[in-house]
Amino acid sequence: MELMPLTMNHKIKSLSLAYDPAQGLRLLDQTLLPSQVSWVPISSPEHMIEAIQSLKVRGAPLIGISASLFLGHYSLSHTPSQTYQVYEDLKKARPTAVNLANNLNSCWQNYLTHNNDPQFLLQKAIELFYQDQELCFAMAKQGVSLLNSNESVLTYCNTGSLATAGIGTALGVIKQGFEQGLIKHVYASETRPLGQGARLTAYELSQLKIPHHVICDNMAATLMAEQLVTKIFVGADRITKKGEVANKIGTLNLAILAAHFKIPFYVVAPSTTFDFETSDDQKMVIEQRNQSEVLGIWNNSISTALNPAFDITPPTLITGIVTENLISTYPFWA
Ligand code: MRU
Repeated sequence: MELMPLTMNHKIKSLSLAYDPAQGLRLLDQTLLPSQVSWVPISSPEHMIEAIQSLKVRGAPLIGISASLFLGHYSLSHTPSQTYQVYEDLKKARPTAVNLANNLNSCWQNYLTHNNDPQFLLQKAIELFYQDQELCFAMAKQGVSLLNSNESVLTYCNTGSLATAGIGTALGVIKQGFEQGLIKHVYASETRPLGQGARLTAYELSQLKIPHHVICDNMAATLMAEQLVTKIFVGADRITKKGEVANKIGTLNLAILAAHFKIPFYVVAPSTTFDFETSDDQKMVIEQRNQSEVLGIWNNSISTALNPAFDITPPTLITGIVTENLISTYPFWA
C-alpha cells in the first residue's frame, strides 16, 4: 500500500478512535457501552497502557493501531530513548493478540530506517489505520462468498468497528452479508465475563438495524440443536502456522458444538493476526485477568475464580480461515 502523504494536521477517525496531531489520541471508552458514549483523551504512556488493560480499547487490530498512533504522537515530542522505552512497555500491555507487537514493531522499524525521524513513526501508524480499513473490506468480500440466502449466523465477542479501524473481521462479513440480503438474523453470544457480545456487538448491530438476539453463552447448543444457526463467524487474536486460533474465551466451546452439530465454523482475521514464528511446541501466552471480572457481577466475595481471557481452537475444528486474500481450509498453511 502507498504511504499517505503526512501533514501536521492529518486527522483520522473511526467509530472508536480519533487522532489528530493537535489533540493527540482519543478513544471511545468501550467499558461504558452501550449505555454511555464517552471519549477519553489519552495523555500519557501509563494512560495508554491502562486503556488497553482495562479494555477501554480492545480487539486485536484496534489495540495495535491505537498503541501505534499513541507511540507515533509521543515520539513527536520525546527523545528516541524515551520513545524506545514506551515502545517496549506498550508491547507488553496485553500478551495474547499478536497485532500489538506486530504493529509496534513495524512502526519502530520505520522510525529506525529514517534516522529516528518521528514523522515516519507516526506515518507508519496512520498507514496501519488505513490498511486495516482495506483489510476489513477485503475479508468481508471473501467471507460473503461463503453465504447462501436466509442465513442465521452466530457470532462471538466483538469483531466489528469497535475492534478494528474498519467494518470489522467476522462482524464485517456479517454486516456486508446483511447489506447484500444474504443474512437475515444474527445471534450475538453474550461473551462472559465482560459481555463484549451483549454490549458491543449488540451496539453495532443495533446502530445498523440488523435483526439480532443476544443470547447467554450457554444457550448456543440449544439454538444449534434446533437448527436455528446456519453458520458461525468469529475473529482471532493470534493464528499460528498450524492453524491454531487464539480467540476470546468460549470460542473453543462454540467450535466443539459446531463440529457436533455439523455447522460451518469460520474464523475471519487479517494477516496482521498471523504469528508464524510461534513454533508448534511453543505455547501461546494466554492472558489471565482479574477474578473480580468473574465474581463482581454476583457480589461474590466468598470464592476465588479463574479468568483466562482467551482459548485456543485446534485447526481440525475450523471449517475455514477467511483472510484478505483467500479462504484457507485444513491443514491451512502447514
Ligand atoms: O479481550 P478482547 O475484547 O480484546 O478480545 C477480543 C477478541 O477476542 C476478538 O475476537 C479478536 O480480538 C478479534 S477482533 C477483530
